Amino acid sequence: MRGVFAYLLCLLPLLVLSADQKQVYIVRIREQKSLHEIEDTHHSYLLSVKNDEGEAKASRLYSYKYSFNGFAAELTPDEASKLSEIEGVASVYKSDPQKYKLLTTRSWEFVGLPDDGDDPIPNRKNILNKTDYGQDIIVGFSRKLDNVDFLLGIWPESKSFSDQDMKPASPSWGGVCQAGIYYDRFHCSNKIVGARYYLKGYEKHYGRLNETLESRSPRDMIGHGTHTASTVAGRQVVNASLMGLAGGAATGGASLARLAIYKVCWLVPNRENSEENACFEEDILAAIDDAIGDKVDVLSISLGLGSSQPLPIEKDPIAIGALMAVKNNIVVACAAGNAGPAWETVSNYHPWVITVAASSIDRDFLRSVILANGVAVIGRTATPNYELDDQNRTLVYAADVVVPGVDKNLAANCLPGSLAPEKVKGNIVVCMVGTMESRIAQGMEVKRAGGVGLILGNLPVMGDRAVYDTHVLPATEVSSSDVLKIIQYIKSTKNPQAVLFNKTRTVLYGVAPNVTSFSSRGPNPFDPNILKPDITAPGLNILAAWSEGTSVSGDVFDNRNVTYNLQSGTSMAAPHIAASATLIKALHPDWSSAAIRSAIMTTASTINNQGSSITDEHGNLANPFMMGCGQFRPVEAADPGLIYDASYDDYLHYICNLGGSTEAIDPSYKCPQEPLFNLNYPSLAIRGLTGTAVVNRRVTHVGSVANTVYNFIAKPPKGITVDATPNVLQFQQVGQILSFTLTIRAVAGSEYLKSYYGFGSYSWTSGNLSVVSPMAISLK
Ligand SMILES: *[C@@H]1O[C@H](CO)[C@@H](O)[C@H](O)[C@H]1NC(C)=O
Ligand SMILES: *[C@@H]1O[C@H](CO)[C@@H](O)[C@H](O)[C@H]1NC(C)=O
Ligand SMILES: *[C@@H]1O[C@H](CO)[C@@H](O)[C@H](O)[C@H]1NC(C)=O
Ligand SMILES: *[C@@H]1O[C@H](CO)[C@@H](O)[C@H](O)[C@H]1NC(C)=O
Ligand SMILES: *[C@@H]1O[C@H](CO)[C@@H](O)[C@H](O)[C@H]1NC(C)=O
Ligand SMILES: *[C@@H]1O[C@H](CO)[C@@H](O)[C@H](O)[C@H]1NC(C)=O
Ligand SMILES: *[C@@H]1O[C@H](CO)[C@@H](O)[C@H](O)[C@H]1NC(C)=O
Ligand SMILES: *[C@@H]1O[C@H](CO)[C@@H](O)[C@H](O)[C@H]1NC(C)=O
Repeated sequence: MRGVFAYLLCLLPLLVLSADQKQVYIVRIREQKSLHEIEDTHHSYLLSVKNDEGEAKASRLYSYKYSFNGFAAELTPDEASKLSEIEGVASVYKSDPQKYKLLTTRSWEFVGLPDDGDDPIPNRKNILNKTDYGQDIIVGFSRKLDNVDFLLGIWPESKSFSDQDMKPASPSWGGVCQAGIYYDRFHCSNKIVGARYYLKGYEKHYGRLNETLESRSPRDMIGHGTHTASTVAGRQVVNASLMGLAGGAATGGASLARLAIYKVCWLVPNRENSEENACFEEDILAAIDDAIGDKVDVLSISLGLGSSQPLPIEKDPIAIGALMAVKNNIVVACAAGNAGPAWETVSNYHPWVITVAASSIDRDFLRSVILANGVAVIGRTATPNYELDDQNRTLVYAADVVVPGVDKNLAANCLPGSLAPEKVKGNIVVCMVGTMESRIAQGMEVKRAGGVGLILGNLPVMGDRAVYDTHVLPATEVSSSDVLKIIQYIKSTKNPQAVLFNKTRTVLYGVAPNVTSFSSRGPNPFDPNILKPDITAPGLNILAAWSEGTSVSGDVFDNRNVTYNLQSGTSMAAPHIAASATLIKALHPDWSSAAIRSAIMTTASTINNQGSSITDEHGNLANPFMMGCGQFRPVEAADPGLIYDASYDDYLHYICNLGGSTEAIDPSYKCPQEPLFNLNYPSLAIRGLTGTAVVNRRVTHVGSVANTVYNFIAKPPKGITVDATPNVLQFQQVGQILSFTLTIRAVAGSEYLKSYYGFGSYSWTSGNLSVVSPMAISLK
């Protein structure tokens, strides 16, 4: 019985260490060894470059056994170079001392998978019932990919992780529970069946963990690990809310799946206002190695390289770890990153993972402002209903009410100590989001100075729409264009006034899903011929469990402590896909990770709840670089009709075809000589089409009726034709695999594709079932 979460987060590049010091190196050994011999072998390699036994022993941080044969050790550059010359050593490289950072429950109902109450669509309930709500599946996890801070771990006492009525995990489950030390005991249960932590790399870089801030255990002191874990597998908790907002039953997508926690990210010392965390390559590799050895079923990873240059596969711990996980039949769901709306920002873009973009749900939190000139401005916030009468109040612009000496450029930012109480008392203050980390601190400053309300203006770079904050006083957040209107109004009149509404209203209408502006976009910066992201799932204002080891905002000076919290990010989206994969795996235990991804992708929808095409938050049509195949549909994904399968060897073959060597990835694999190899991917991207392209694909019939006929339908971009040979697939038995060839031609009217991509799709249809693949094609 499994239910494991591995958590990974986001990354940010950071710290450069001095070159002559001993540093951590990752060493890969060419030969395969049996498990019990591995550690001895690693020791003897180290012994050959170190002075004595003791030194060799002390230098080794981890032995990697299940993902690949290798180890992490502290070496001098000289020792590293000696090691690399030893026969049998495949590669030696310095661990990149960059810090990886971490980045509902309405969302499940919204995608058609409610867990409670009367469901008008019986089918939905059947899926959950049939899979026993994911029982016996173990899931692994993820984080957010921007410079908000995250970490892994879990708050095991949360009601969402109750193991009530759950039987013990099967004896074959290999996980362990590493208890915390001192006062902070950590307990596993029939729900949290494994919990480990990885600190050796972190402590090499930062020194000993500060245990007044962090817990030397799998305990989550940041919140995001708890949040993502409960989105995948939280039990149903009635009356969950964030200080009264978003109230309702909270539940994970696979509420009986079990969790295994692999904590690799830790708070960093000397943080200032905000929590910050870091995770290191050698620790991440060790976590994934253990998750493979423990035999988790699904891994949800939200670690990414943010906006840095793509790394070679063999030096990218997430890429390698995920590939080895997939080799062991583990499904890996990854956050696409929060670097949107810029193009070519997607992270975790390798074809062996599921890359998840974030969309909105049909719920919103409104708190509007009415200027005394009659203009109404819509604001949004996760601020609870602090008392404020719905009366006109004097409105002041922060830059006009600062104490002397505040830097002019920062005067609108409501920095701590900047506001003059005599000009602020009793008023509503308009502040601008700045580059300082904490928006909560801005509200605290307004409150300190005696203000009764806060209007926070967003920056245009935030796509006009902030992540919603939970402020400490009545507050709302408005777009960058709306805040300009408000400031203009203030400047235009002698006695500016406004009503800031008393209540944050939860509204359940509106166009949804929209692709969020923060969600990272394609094209794929590593290989433009693999379309990424793959899929989109809810990632805006998702309510899920929270850690009591931190505050609601995560800021250290905030002492408000909650058990459920709203969070946004692709890290919140990836767990939805991990849960969907969990349910599919429970239904189809023999499906490969590629098959499960294919099922999720080809059954997605590009239509919103109004029956129109999905757009971004501004109404621009969403394309596959924003949403992949579209919004996932967990019920439909259970019965996809056809699947595009791929194996571990196919991925290695794909790496060969990229011109890469697989030597450093899997020394036992030899690249085949095959002129045309196309990875059997459920979507299609071609950059720089010249004339005609021919692409091979194959599909497996996984429906229930043996004799089934599928017909081909192409909806290519203008100026492109797409033909399939054959264009009818006649299956005679379930499980049969049929191949087809796509011929893609640029014809008259395709010139526009020299400057950018065109988008379309092709499908195989049978009765009311459509197996849809999006396409993106450019001539440049
Ligand atoms: C779930 O399935 C079991 C047996 O398969 C059935 O007895 C039960 O009524 C089902 N529950 C729901 C809620 O459909
Ligand atoms: C640990 O963190 C606390 C709280 O930030 C700080 O006061 C203390 O000085 C830190 N200890 C060390 C050894 O850095
Ligand atoms: C949920 O909360 C409401 C209001 O606090 C309360 O009346 C109700 O009994 C609660 N329901 C449950 C099942 O706890
Ligand atoms: C606020 O002031 C404006 C202008 O005087 C007035 O029209 C509006 O009714 C007032 N709103 C309230 C709630 O008093
Ligand atoms: C403001 O909201 C609070 C909490 O919902 C409510 O108790 C109070 O009556 C409201 N006040 C006014 C003036 O509307
Ligand atoms: C959160 O609240 C709980 C219960 O009141 C308390 O035990 C805990 O110390 C609080 N945590 C923080 C970080 O304030
Ligand atoms: C979704 O997009 C529509 C435009 O298509 C927009 O009107 C709406 O406000 C958006 N909703 C959210 C939550 O961004
Ligand atoms: C699709 O077709 C099958 C077989 O004809 C039928 O049983 C099923 O109800 C249809 N589903 C929908 C959503 O129309």
